[in-house]
Amino acid sequence: ATGTEPELNSGGVRTPTRAAIAAPHLRTDRWWLQPAATAGGLLAFIVYSTWRAFANTDYYAAPYVSPFYSPCLAENCEPMRAGPNWEIFGGWWGLSPALLILIFPLGFRLTCYYYRKAYYRGFWASPPACAVAEPHKKYTGETRFPLILQNIHRYFFYAAILVAGILTYDTVLAFRDEHYEWGHMGLGTLVFLVNIVLIWAYTLSCHSCRHIVGGQLKHFSKHPVRYRMWQWVGKLNARHMLLAWASLVSVALADFYVYLVASGAFDDPRLF
Ligand code: FES
Repeated sequence: ATGTEPELNSGGVRTPTRAAIAAPHLRTDRWWLQPAATAGGLLAFIVYSTWRAFANTDYYAAPYVSPFYSPCLAENCEPMRAGPNWEIFGGWWGLSPALLILIFPLGFRLTCYYYRKAYYRGFWASPPACAVAEPHKKYTGETRFPLILQNIHRYFFYAAILVAGILTYDTVLAFRDEHYEWGHMGLGTLVFLVNIVLIWAYTLSCHSCRHIVGGQLKHFSKHPVRYRMWQWVGKLNARHMLLAWASLVSVALADFYVYLVASGAFDDPRLF
């Protein structure tokens, strides 16, 4: 280094070292459509999940437990819950029990590589789209607080595996009827099944998962099992964006289904 280079990240796209193009961008297509749709979709989910997480009601309709409220970690859960119920927070917790558990899937999605791209573009316009300059004067990437915390994504991945395991257990319990007899299948069981498949597909398609499974290997030939697993995860990983959206919609639908049945607006049709 000569000491005369412009300070890294000091001026965004308007630094003297960047091409001096007066037009804000040269794109002629409707480039704003994708970030606008992304922002709209994420906003809808945020509004819905905030309402449901704080509602603290209608999250249990035997044998279904809303995925927003499972596992229950406080004493104030609805009685006769079918799902995992570990009251490690005891009786002092007076708020909705969903708030104790949602931080894990929320943290997982918030730090996800795809969602980062989505909300950096959709909400923060950094940048709004490819080849469209961002309006901010400075660009520091993810090198400083708070965005440097995005690096904890791999730890949220481990938490997400646990949560997916618990939701799998809830899905197995959905094969009972309202009297807890096994062998039941309602429309809700089907909704839970689709949701858990999408949750697992999204979780396993994670970039951190791909690295954990197949990263830091010098010779794939010496690790045939990990190589095979890495190939599977890679196939899912190629569809990470699709799975991120599909599982977001499915988890909201599974919760909404439980809400409809629990609130008495709808009767769970029995398939067998
Ligand atoms: Fe999206 Fe890990 S990169 S969940």
